[in-house]
Amino acid sequence: MKQTLSPAVPYQKKDLWISQFAHDVTLGLSQHPKSVPSRYFYDKEGDKIFQQIMNMPEYYITSCEHDIFMQQGKKMCQVFHEPGETFNLIEFGAGDGYKTKVLLKKLLEDEADFTYNPVDISKNILEELNTNLKNELPGMKVRPLNMEYFSALSKLSELNTRRNVVLFLGANIGNFSREAAGNFLSRISWYCKPGDLLLLGADLKKDPQIISLAYNDPHGITAAFNLNLLQRMNRELGADFDTNSFVHHTFYEPQSGEVLSYLVSLRRQTVRFAHINMEVSFEAFESIHTETSRKYSLSELEELAADQGFEVLEHFSDERNYFVDSLWKIR
Ligand SMILES: C[S@@+](CC[C@H](N)C(=O)[O-])C[C@H]1O[C@@H](n2cnc3c(N)ncnc32)[C@H](O)[C@@H]1O
Repeated sequence: MKQTLSPAVPYQKKDLWISQFAHDVTLGLSQHPKSVPSRYFYDKEGDKIFQQIMNMPEYYITSCEHDIFMQQGKKMCQVFHEPGETFNLIEFGAGDGYKTKVLLKKLLEDEADFTYNPVDISKNILEELNTNLKNELPGMKVRPLNMEYFSALSKLSELNTRRNVVLFLGANIGNFSREAAGNFLSRISWYCKPGDLLLLGADLKKDPQIISLAYNDPHGITAAFNLNLLQRMNRELGADFDTNSFVHHTFYEPQSGEVLSYLVSLRRQTVRFAHINMEVSFEAFESIHTETSRKYSLSELEELAADQGFEVLEHFSDERNYFVDSLWKIR
C-alpha cells in the first residue's frame, strides 16, 4: 500500500482547525484499522444534516430529552441554584441548543442570575445558537466558547468564583470510550469545586432494533451525515473521495452497548489529498471507523459517577426509560 504521509509539508490553509483536522486525518487514515474522529462530522453541512437527524422519528433521543426537560426541567432548575445566587451554566457540545432552550426559559422565568457558556467545536452552530438566543431570549448573558471539550475544561477553573452547573446533554458522553468518559468526568470534577453540579444526558440500553434504526434510518439521513465526512475532506483537504464508492454501515453490540459506525470502501482505490500531499489506499471493503455511540445502564452510570468523585442526586427519565438526564454533585 502506497502512502505519502508528510506532516512536515506545510498545510496550504492556515486556519488552526484545518491544520488540526489535517493532522488528525493523516494520523487516523495511516493506521490499521483506519479511523477519523467523530468530532469532524460537524462542519456547516454536517450541522445541517444533524438537525435533520434530530427531527427524524427514529432518532428518539431528541424527543425523549425534550420531554424530560418540559416535564421535569423546573425541578432540575430549582436544584441548579439557591434563591438569589449567581452561577455559571456551562454546556459542552451545545449544538443548536434546541433542548437546552427549554431549561434556559425555565431559569429565566425563575429570575435566575446566570451566564450561559455554550462550548462547541463548530463555529457555525455556535454562531447560529448565539444569534437565535439574542432573538429568542434577549437580555440573557451568553459567552460562547468555540473550543474542543478538553481545551474548554480549563475555562472551568477561571469561572470558579461562582457555582458551576455543567451540562453535557444528548448522547455526547456516548462518543467517548469508557476510559475517555472517566477521564473527561474526572477532569470536570477536578476543575470544579465541591457542590458544583453536572447534568449528564445518556442514552440507555434498550431493544437493539430501536437503537439500530436511530443510526441507520430508512430515509438515508444518517448515511448522508456519515458520508459528509468524506465530502468535508474533499472540501477542506483537497481530497478526491468518490462518495459513491463508500457505504455507511452501523451495528449495535448489546454487550458493550456500542453502536459502531463505519464508511466501507466498495472497491480497491487510492484517494489523493492535494492540500496535504498525501495518498491513502483502500483495499476493497476496507473501512474507516467514524463513530462510537455508547449506550449505558443506570448502574454503569452510577459506577462512573462514584469512580470520578460525583454523588448521584437524581435520575430524570422519560416515560419509556429510553434516555436519562442524571444530576450529579461534585463531592
Ligand atoms: C450530537 S451533537 C449534540 C448537540 C446537543 N448537545 C444536543 O443534544 O442536541 C454534538 C455537538 O457537540 C459538538 N462536538 C462534538 N465533539 C466535540 C468536541 N470534541 N469538542 C467540542 N464540541 C464537540 C458538535 O459540534 C455538535 O454540535
